[in-house]
Amino acid sequence: MTGLTFNMADNLSRQIAETDVRLASSPEAISAHARETVRIPRIVIEAFCDTAEIAATIENSARDRLMARTRVMVRMGGIAAAIAHFQNAPTPNLVIIESRSADDLNLADLDRLAEVCDPGTRVMVIGRANDIVFYRDLMKRGVSDYLLAPITPVSLITSISGVYGETNSGKLGHTYAFMGAKGGVGSSTIAHNIAWTIARQQQSDVVVADLDLPFGTASLDFNLDTGPGLAEAIQDTSRLDEVLLDRLLTKCGDHLSLLSAPTDLEKSYDLGQSELEALIEVAQSSIPFTILDMPHMWTSWSKSMLTAADEIIITAAPDLANLRNAKNMIGVLRQARPHDPPPKLILNQVGMPKRPEIKPKDFAKAVQLEPMACIPFDAHLFGTAASKGQMAAEVSSKGAAQKSFQEIADLLTGRKDTKNARRKALDLSALFGRTKRKPASAGQ
Ligand SMILES: Nc1ncnc2c1ncn2[C@@H]1O[C@H](COP(=O)(O)OP(=O)(O)O)[C@@H](O)[C@H]1O
Ligand SMILES: [Mg+2]
Repeated sequence: MTGLTFNMADNLSRQIAETDVRLASSPEAISAHARETVRIPRIVIEAFCDTAEIAATIENSARDRLMARTRVMVRMGGIAAAIAHFQNAPTPNLVIIESRSADDLNLADLDRLAEVCDPGTRVMVIGRANDIVFYRDLMKRGVSDYLLAPITPVSLITSISGVYGETNSGKLGHTYAFMGAKGGVGSSTIAHNIAWTIARQQQSDVVVADLDLPFGTASLDFNLDTGPGLAEAIQDTSRLDEVLLDRLLTKCGDHLSLLSAPTDLEKSYDLGQSELEALIEVAQSSIPFTILDMPHMWTSWSKSMLTAADEIIITAAPDLANLRNAKNMIGVLRQARPHDPPPKLILNQVGMPKRPEIKPKDFAKAVQLEPMACIPFDAHLFGTAASKGQMAAEVSSKGAAQKSFQEIADLLTGRKDTKNARRKALDLSALFGRTKRKPASAGQ
């Protein structure tokens, strides 16, 4: 026992010392609002750069999840190379031209580029001339946008989304991907409880997609029969649209539905990335909140699901294997989503009797991420909920875990921020009222 504790502490300090994940979030981030309203469509972009910095920035932008559906090719040589290249090659949807110096890009060159461009191709220019007359000339020639160098990946993505973004008749639905740092840590339980809570709080539609095709427990947890669900949704994605998706959902209350896992072991499930991408695309365009209940596995489809989600929620139990895995997952996902906030972390099953555990604050230090919640181990509550096919709040309305689920749902949907902002606005108006009244009372 002492040996185990000692080893754990030893290993933990090594993990902390080895931590190399950068804490600082990216200096510039695309606002949550922009991310929720914009989706850059499946377009091809070809950039002709003059400097290595701009070429690197464009390549960096291409790795952002908002650009996941676009194909970006970066070449050197500026506008001259573009004109030469497109003499014999079809033009893509968007051509980006960089010009190194203010007087290097002349309008005659742009006219020559226009001659070799197919109709429908748009052109964006990155330049160094801070000159409104030049800008107007570019716009008159049909250039879609002009960016003054130096640029950042975020400014470029914002500009491309302005030129080419699908605003998709308003708002896109949010997707939340839940994955455990290990199997059995309660990731699915938390995903289901959060989905249920959001559906109640927001009174808007929530779908739980059980992506653990052979072993998913969502239908058990919600006490539902297994429907055609996911298996049929991904069988032929060319047929998949909002109407079919709606038919495949199993209703679970007014606002909550389930896309259930087939759990049929006669079949084997080798999921392809494109099938799930198509599913998420349809879900996002018609459902306000999609909860992806991910199995604990690391495959190309699971990685790309995580990378593409609006929020990633990693659930971990407070032991060493969870710590190592959570740290690795957070590190990789931070790198894969450089312009997004880091994943969210939930510590679950905290305080299991007689189990040596890593303290939440040590865990947070090692993974360089504060958990958004620490949920206590409660065998009675979760055992009862699982065996009755109920959510924790249906078993008992009060308790630490139930309170955490409320708070997590508030944080994930931005309800807490809105409430805080409203409270602040009220405070300010009270203050404002007092300061306004003061002179009057002083004068009396
Ligand atoms: N905080 C908790 N306390 C006690 N048991 C829990 C807790 N969270 C989850 N469980 C139980 O742990 C088991 C595994 O949960 P599950 O959600 O299936 O994990 P995962 O999806 O991470 O594999 C379930 O029996 C569940 O009821
Ligand atoms: Mg699970």
